[in-house]
Amino acid sequence: MAEIILTILCDNTAAMKEGIRAEHGFSALIERDNTRILFDTGQSDVFWHNAGVMGKDLAAIDSVVLSHGHYDHTGGLLSLARFNGGAMVIGHKDVFAPRYKKQVDGSLKYIGCPYTQTHLESRGLNFKFVSSRFEVAPGILYVSEVPVANDFEKGDPLLVVKDNNGKAVPDPFMDDAALYIRTPQGLVVILGCSHRGVINILKQILTLEGDVPIFTIIGGTHLSRVSVEQTEKTIEALREVNPRAIGVSHCTGLEAADEMKKVFGNRFFRATAGTVITINEEGGVAIQ
Ligand SMILES: [Fe+2]
Ligand SMILES: [Fe+2]
Repeated sequence: MAEIILTILCDNTAAMKEGIRAEHGFSALIERDNTRILFDTGQSDVFWHNAGVMGKDLAAIDSVVLSHGHYDHTGGLLSLARFNGGAMVIGHKDVFAPRYKKQVDGSLKYIGCPYTQTHLESRGLNFKFVSSRFEVAPGILYVSEVPVANDFEKGDPLLVVKDNNGKAVPDPFMDDAALYIRTPQGLVVILGCSHRGVINILKQILTLEGDVPIFTIIGGTHLSRVSVEQTEKTIEALREVNPRAIGVSHCTGLEAADEMKKVFGNRFFRATAGTVITINEEGGVAIQ
């Protein structure tokens, strides 16, 4: 197996490295052999700035994969188009669906992709819409349309779409996607926001892949606004998954991350902007 390098380019918090910026959002670069895939783009040009600081050339990426349509994952697409017109962007057809967050006063704030598909295409980006599973590169797979398989991952009640009558209803998040990489040691899973539930996503991946270990998990797990019960059950289910390394980002939330640290000890890390995760040929995981 060739070495895999995962570089966190955008996260809510930044590693203590000179010049790295943070913003609410997520973006990661996946490198293996000559394959370079960008997963999400954060909400602005921060991902591009951090890539430059870390010596990563995003003009050389093969494709971009979108985890879902929220602005904090798609907002960087215009910067991407400015610097890398012609890039291929892979995602579910619902990434451009209008979506909202309920405010305290009951109003709805738009939190979908800030640009239309037409506008981004006029700037040179090419979109490829895929559904439940797609092989982005050999052994690197996209998965969305995740079935709900447990009763504790209830979703975030503040995140909604409008039905045909304009009424706010829970966002179904059929576009919520993850990437996973096959390795001889098992699977490396990269999550965006996990709006369909991190355990539902892992279960779906195992359904598709068979009984293989999930040995590394990184990304957002959206435990920042859920009940204590959901957090506890999620962490218990993650403990059963028994990853060798788990690095959380973004919407995981500080409290849930602290709880995971207690459970996973030195297998746990914070995948902040500027963090580099190197997985070597023997399956060793180094965090820098
Ligand atoms: Fe997010
Ligand atoms: Fe999101």
